[in-house]
Amino acid sequence: MTLRRIATIGHPVLREPARAINREELASPEMQALIDDLIETMREAQGAGLAANQVYEPVRICVMEVGDNPRYPYKPKIPLTVLVNPHLVPVGEERFSNYEGCLSVPDLRGVVERPVEFRVRAMDRDGNDIDRVVKGLTAGTFQHEVDHLEGRLFVDRVTDPTSLCTWSHFERYHKAAFVKRAEALVSRFGS
Ligand code: NI
Repeated sequence: MTLRRIATIGHPVLREPARAINREELASPEMQALIDDLIETMREAQGAGLAANQVYEPVRICVMEVGDNPRYPYKPKIPLTVLVNPHLVPVGEERFSNYEGCLSVPDLRGVVERPVEFRVRAMDRDGNDIDRVVKGLTAGTFQHEVDHLEGRLFVDRVTDPTSLCTWSHFERYHKAAFVKRAEALVSRFGS
């Protein structure tokens, strides 16, 4: 496995929709190695997720995992998840205000409105179909990663630019209020 370099905001690779791959290509040693590298790079950078185009590979693959993450201590755990060719459809109208950050947007966080519930269709790394519903804060994480594959960054969805802040100012001025909102969601949905 190899740690990959992470593209930062302004690089065109983050702005181009990634291409879908078929099962045969997914099974290739190159794609399986890319998935291993995405997982290792995400863990090393302490991210909650990473999309392939963030490491300069414009294919529709993203990975997510939240354990005891010091960057996101309030986040509910997400077991290691690999999504290939993901497609998300919101369920219902309800939205919540998520404070997001991104490995490709260094030292910036901002509030993004996200649906609280999504249906997810994708393949796993072995080509098996995934069809499930994700809720709560975890739904925000899924949408953030799938946005990357569409060429979108969280800053595109920030409706109130005055919410933008550095990580240290998030900790100092905004974290307490957000953690309260996040805990309310987690207690409703368990995720
Ligand atoms: Ni991101």
